[in-house]
Amino acid sequence: MNILVLHGPNLNLLGSREPHLYGPLTLEEIDRRLIALGRELGVEVICRQSNHEGTLIDALHEARSWAAGVVFNPGGYTHTSVALRDAIAAIALPVIEVHLSNVYAREEFRHTSLISAVCRGKVVGFGWRSYELGLRGLVALLRNGA
Ligand code: DQA
Repeated sequence: MNILVLHGPNLNLLGSREPHLYGPLTLEEIDRRLIALGRELGVEVICRQSNHEGTLIDALHEARSWAAGVVFNPGGYTHTSVALRDAIAAIALPVIEVHLSNVYAREEFRHTSLISAVCRGKVVGFGWRSYELGLRGLVALLRNGA
C-alpha cells in the first residue's frame, strides 16, 4: 500500500521558519520519520512538497493511479484554495488534513479551512506528530474501515 504525504507552500522552510510555531525539525527530517513509520506500519510513504497550487493539484490527480490515500498539509492554501478543495473532492481518495500548529489558537483567518469538508479526517496542533497521527489514522482506516 502506497501513501502520499503532500506538503504545501513554505513548508520547505521548516526548521528555520518560525520554529516557535512549527518546531525545530526540517522537512527532510519529518519525511525521514514518516518513511520510517510507514515501514513499521507496512506501507510505502512517498513525500512531495510544492509551493505552487497547480503542482499540488497535479500531485493529487496523479495519486489516483498509485496511492491508497493522502496525508496533506496545504499550508496557507488551506484558507484560500477552492481549486485544491475541488481536487480533493474529485480524486475520491481518503485525504487527511494536517497542520503542525493549532490553527484555532491563531489568527481568525486561519480558523477557516476550505479543505476540511472534503477530507476524511483532520489533525492539528501536534507539531510534526500531526503527520504521524494522520498517517497512523489513515492506515488504520484503510485497513479496518471506520
Ligand atoms: C500550517 C498552518 C497554516 O495556517 C499556515 O499557513 C502554514 C502552516 C500548519 O501546518 O500549521 O503554512 O498549515
